[in-house]
Amino acid sequence: GGGIVRISVIGTGYLGATHAACMAELGFEVIGVDIDPAKIERLARGELPFHEPGLAELIVKHVESGRLRFTTDYAEVGGWADVHFIGVGTPQRSGEHAADMRYVDAALTSLAESISKDALIVGKSTVPVGTADRLAGLLAQLRAANGLPGTVELAWNPEFLREGFAVKDTLTPDRIVVGVASEHAEQVLREVYAAPLAADTPWIATDFPTAELVKVAANAFLATKISFINAFSEITEAVGGDIRTLADAIGHDARIGRRFLNAGVGFGGGCLPKDIRALQARAAELGLTSTMRFLSEMDAINLRRRERVVDLAVDVLAADAGHRRAAPVQALQGARIAILGVAFKPDSDDVRDSPALDVANRLYTLGADTAVYDPEANANAAARFPRLDYVDSVEEALRDADLAILLTEWREFRELDPARVAELMATPRLIDGRNVLDRDAWAAAGVPVVGMGQKVVHGAPA
Ligand code: UDX
Repeated sequence: GGGIVRISVIGTGYLGATHAACMAELGFEVIGVDIDPAKIERLARGELPFHEPGLAELIVKHVESGRLRFTTDYAEVGGWADVHFIGVGTPQRSGEHAADMRYVDAALTSLAESISKDALIVGKSTVPVGTADRLAGLLAQLRAANGLPGTVELAWNPEFLREGFAVKDTLTPDRIVVGVASEHAEQVLREVYAAPLAADTPWIATDFPTAELVKVAANAFLATKISFINAFSEITEAVGGDIRTLADAIGHDARIGRRFLNAGVGFGGGCLPKDIRALQARAAELGLTSTMRFLSEMDAINLRRRERVVDLAVDVLAADAGHRRAAPVQALQGARIAILGVAFKPDSDDVRDSPALDVANRLYTLGADTAVYDPEANANAAARFPRLDYVDSVEEALRDADLAILLTEWREFRELDPARVAELMATPRLIDGRNVLDRDAWAAAGVPVVGMGQKVVHGAPA
């Protein structure tokens, strides 16, 4: 052991930048490779195009320590690194469910055509099962054709990092999964991950398809857990009952567990929605459409939560106007609605597939006057939907509002003083799209709160 010192990371997006910085933190010499020179220049100064606690500091620390550099040139790493991680994106193909593999394929091809010494290529991107086998074939072909010196092998090593915890999840993961085709490849990866292994992190060495599937299975399970509780929300909305108590009660069963059973406006972000769609597309390619059909139900349940919030807003405002069943446009026209949160989850500025931003935009499209405030994500939201009214503070959003809707459970919103909210709003009332507020306390302070999974009649709790 002890032979691995130099690591390259292809792709300096969210995953690649985190991995590169963390590998430097573990003591390796690291070069991050990206095709965009402006991007890596900013990165090297610690300027991130996304919000991730601790990452900018870690990058700057290791740029300064000399262990971390960035380049746009594959040739620079091809004769240098012992291990090359591929951390490029696999976005949803536009208009389709399948993942777009062009960046992964391009990275593999560029590496195969520039590596000139013994090396291990390690895929980290989330990919359709079967990709590693396909890429191993492509790699062998390209190497045979170009005749460069060195033996190059492929391995697969999925990541499970969460936004907001990316550095922590990379340095102290729950488990390390590697798909390997040889003992040598496993040995190399054991050296790379010697530090977390020394801390007793579970190590799972397996074949390519299993390694690829661990990632998509984990995300499909998490999405299912959220949609499961949200499906029960639809029942408690119909017959009454309290979804939070139901989640607590089933969560006490250790086989079920309470985490990821928070009912609300549903899941979003750059991973869960796209991953469950890509998995369905891949299953269909394999002739297994029925096998993953339940995921299209999970997706549908998840999207219905957004409609539920819009319907609730319409009901609440229609009740004012005296008409019990107003057309949405009629009820929302001119109503000022405070939108609290547009990020897909708190402590993030990410609005990709954000349920919160989707709801805000739907309300705007139906004629509401939306005053949007998010502690971090306003700028990203404005880049997508510039016509909403973005304001700089929660007080500004609430001032003179006819209705407030909490859509991302930022601490700032969870700790709002209901008495102050009552003073600010034209008509104090709130829809809690994340079920995080104490409804009794808020009602006592003069702000009626309607939650998700709550039975509501004519805009008021039943
Ligand atoms: C997820 C996985 O957790 C991570 O392991 C994987 O590597 C990438 O995808 P992330 O997208 O960062 O991570 O967010 P996560 O914390 O999982 O939340 C996803 C979405 O589910 C958010 O929109 C969140 O608000 C929602 N959610 C989560 C719920 O609606 N209810 C819950 O109980 C939990």
